[in-house]
Amino acid sequence: MSKKTVLVSGGAGFIGSHVTVELIAAGYDVVVADNFSNCDHTCFEGVKKITGREDLPLEVVDFCDAAATDALFAKYPIDAVIHFAAFKAVGESVAEPVKYYKNNLTSFLNVLETAQKRGGCNVLFSSSATVYGEPEKVPVTEQTPRQPATSPYGNTKTMCEDILRDTVKANGGKIKGILLRYFNPIGAHPSALIGELPRGVPNNLVPYITQTAIGKRECLNIFGNDYPTPDGTCQRDFIDIVDLAKAHVYAVTRMVEGKMKQDCEVFNVGTGRPLSVMELVNAFEKVNGVKLNYKFAPRRAGDITAIWADPTLAETEMGWKATRTIEETLKAAWAWECHLAGK
Ligand code: UFG
Repeated sequence: MSKKTVLVSGGAGFIGSHVTVELIAAGYDVVVADNFSNCDHTCFEGVKKITGREDLPLEVVDFCDAAATDALFAKYPIDAVIHFAAFKAVGESVAEPVKYYKNNLTSFLNVLETAQKRGGCNVLFSSSATVYGEPEKVPVTEQTPRQPATSPYGNTKTMCEDILRDTVKANGGKIKGILLRYFNPIGAHPSALIGELPRGVPNNLVPYITQTAIGKRECLNIFGNDYPTPDGTCQRDFIDIVDLAKAHVYAVTRMVEGKMKQDCEVFNVGTGRPLSVMELVNAFEKVNGVKLNYKFAPRRAGDITAIWADPTLAETEMGWKATRTIEETLKAAWAWECHLAGK
């Protein structure tokens, strides 16, 4: 069988770069496309080093540009597209909703319109556990009802899920879709050549931890220790970025090999293991032998108390399961921060 080609939109970012590495390792041809609006070339260069693929195609494209999106699909024989290209800062989306709706919806609509014009495609959309809101029951399965989004960012995820479902339905099997709902992706590639590169002050926990440990930030604020959880801090399902990236390979393979049971499917991508913010901080200190300066601070607006995945469906249907331990993941996150600092 000839090699299949996967277009990775937003392929130079944190998740996209790890997915590119795993797709190449699995034997796919990959086209990386990014407009570098929220990342530099560090991860793309890292991907080339890890894979030994100096010739890896890179297209600097803004998917909000319909003509450029069309041209990209005309240039390569694309069997599947994984769509990451999107803005992702929750707080910023509250302050600038138009920017978020315009970018995140337009880029995805352009991909779908092009796919439709070309007679079909396999489309994998990067969704989020944010669609479950504050769940009544944990862990959440794919059947757990979605809840109204609490931010424009979250709403773009819910809306793109619906847009893909409706588009699949209207295209009589020519467009197939998989929605992967990520829990909390953390860590970095074990090579320490690619990882998370937040611009400015990090919003997410693990980059904040590593930047505090390296001395870039003075003190980690733990937002809330009065939640109704065992230790009072929020609980999350922290999923290793390499495990998460592999889930995409399983999903793409399921699509291109015609193994889907429905034309649009949804899978949780998590570990099934809840970990509190405090437990994560303690594990980071222990595994890396560093002392972290932290203090308890008031709750952060919009935070969910506790959410973690029931990942059973991904395992039974796709054969995917998270395998990396939290210790491995936190070691990799620290190695990446040290690599960035040249240490
Ligand atoms: N936290 C801190 N201090 C920090 C940063 C985070 O205590 O400096 C806590 C948060 O309060 C939360 C936990 O660490 O309890 C995890 O926070 P993150 O920001 O790392 O992740 P979230 O669970 O808030 O974010 C995730 C995804 C988003 C998604 C959001 C929706 O990363 O993409 O869930 O709830 F939008």
